[in-house]
Amino acid sequence: PTVLLLNGPNLNLLGRRDPAHYGSTTLADIERRVTGLGAELGARVRCAQSNHEGELVDLVHGAAELDGIVINPGAFAHYSIALRDAVDAVDTPCVEVHISNVYAREEFRHTSVTAPVMQGYIAGCGVVGYELGLRAVLARIAEAAD
Ligand code: DQA
Repeated sequence: PTVLLLNGPNLNLLGRRDPAHYGSTTLADIERRVTGLGAELGARVRCAQSNHEGELVDLVHGAAELDGIVINPGAFAHYSIALRDAVDAVDTPCVEVHISNVYAREEFRHTSVTAPVMQGYIAGCGVVGYELGLRAVLARIAEAAD
């Protein structure tokens, strides 16, 4: 299977941005780790990041050809109906990841408008959440296949 690892706005700054919430691992490190785990588990991982809502929508549409998506929508999780509708519109199973425990933070982070269309949701596990997300989406793909 081929899985898209998709990161939303400001996640290109990981490693420098607010390390108390997000740690010191860079996005390049995360992409390497998830790609490496994919190789171990027999999956190909494609990586993309965008700060732009419409581009994320396009990337989700493009993933209709793929087998799964692991997405950290960043702040768009809290209000982007367009991104939610994009995930809803493709049949590709999608798992949402947040590095920080959004429920332990500001009230406006407690809502995810994208979560209801996801096959799974992971928050507060740090960057390991991306690896858990990959395992989860691969399990969904395997379930769907039998
Ligand atoms: C985040 C949580 C969001 O609230 C925030 O806007 C982010 C990162 C996380 O990974 O913890 O950009 O998605």
